[in-house]
Amino acid sequence: MGGTKNKAVYLKSYPAGLPGPSHFETRVVETPAPRDGEMLMRTVWMSVDPYMRGRMRPDVKSYVPPFSLDQPLDGGAVSEVVESNNSGFKKGDYVVAFQGGWKEYWISNGDGLTRVDPGLAPLSAYLGVLGMPGLTAWAGLTQILQPNPGDTVFVSGAAGAVGSVVCQLAKIKGARVIASAGSKEKCDWLLKEGGADVALNYRDYKNAGALTKALAEAAPDGINCYFENVGGMHLEAALNNIAFGARIALCGMISVYNNTELEPGPPNLAFLIARSAKMQGFIVSIYLHLAMQFASEVAPLLAQGKIKFRESVYDGLDEAPNAFIGLFHGENFGKAVIRVGPDRA
Ligand SMILES: NC(=O)c1ccc[n+]([C@@H]2O[C@H](COP(=O)([O-])OP(=O)(O)OC[C@H]3O[C@@H](n4cnc5c(N)ncnc54)[C@H](OP(=O)(O)O)[C@@H]3O)[C@@H](O)[C@H]2O)c1
Repeated sequence: MGGTKNKAVYLKSYPAGLPGPSHFETRVVETPAPRDGEMLMRTVWMSVDPYMRGRMRPDVKSYVPPFSLDQPLDGGAVSEVVESNNSGFKKGDYVVAFQGGWKEYWISNGDGLTRVDPGLAPLSAYLGVLGMPGLTAWAGLTQILQPNPGDTVFVSGAAGAVGSVVCQLAKIKGARVIASAGSKEKCDWLLKEGGADVALNYRDYKNAGALTKALAEAAPDGINCYFENVGGMHLEAALNNIAFGARIALCGMISVYNNTELEPGPPNLAFLIARSAKMQGFIVSIYLHLAMQFASEVAPLLAQGKIKFRESVYDGLDEAPNAFIGLFHGENFGKAVIRVGPDRA
């Protein structure tokens, strides 16, 4: 097989503030034929994730290098092996990897690929509840927050890929769950299916003071655990309500990712002292060694219907920029995924 002509999405310029469609460009590229030890991969599903915004800042040193303007964007994907010169994989295998996103075809040498079982769950679930966001949720909850039965757990960004799994796992572990999300539809789902005892639509609260009051009403004895996905007024309101000995897991702060200036921290950080509380940030990659433990706990819960998941599905690679931009406007409900090519599994 010669080279394969296909599409890939490039970053045209680095956004300042909110990214828009003009920052992206779809180009026709030629993927070369695989050499010895290599495989031609077809991207079936790709993921868009908030962390990718951090890779669109060439000046900020982070745990992943910035995207280059001269290369296709990259990210997590589920791909099908189309042609294999690698003894570890055969044509028709499906794999998940932190590669393959934002393009229709790509070449792999087999490094960093995990074979997935299409019989266990839909392929796209390996980008969400059974993938990186699911591991993030499970690790932040079990390794940092460690809720006891009866504890009150507050989760922001609760209807998203990570938050929705946190809420349900916390509920299964016997906690009382207070969820925050940005629409009535999301809050209704969180109450009905998503494990929440109380769901707050944060758009109903104008500032940290109003959210503090709502949280105090929902958790009169305080919050024992806070899973932070959003930052800003959510963190301030959570700190105002933390119970003695509380744990806070800093997973993400999506409300500040498009800021052009660094925002001052919450004015009430000192509450951590008086309440003997702990706040810890983490990146999911430090827990990759626990991926099997995560899968052995969460996959059966999924199979038994004890964990539900939602997806916002976008069709075709051309939709990937819109799907990514939509993350910052709350357009996704559950995991945002793009069906790049036919899913024949
Ligand atoms: N530490 C790690 O290793 C790690 C790994 C994965 C994800 N994360 C972080 O976890 C968080 C959630 O990620 P995800 O993949 O699950 O994304 P997601 O929740 O599926 O999608 C993003 C959601 O964030 C909410 N949002 C956007 N802008 C907001 C704002 N200004 N204020 C409040 N809410 C806002 C929107 O929901 P609403 O409709 O509710 O506004 C949107 O749907 C992000 O902060 C991400 O960076 C961290």
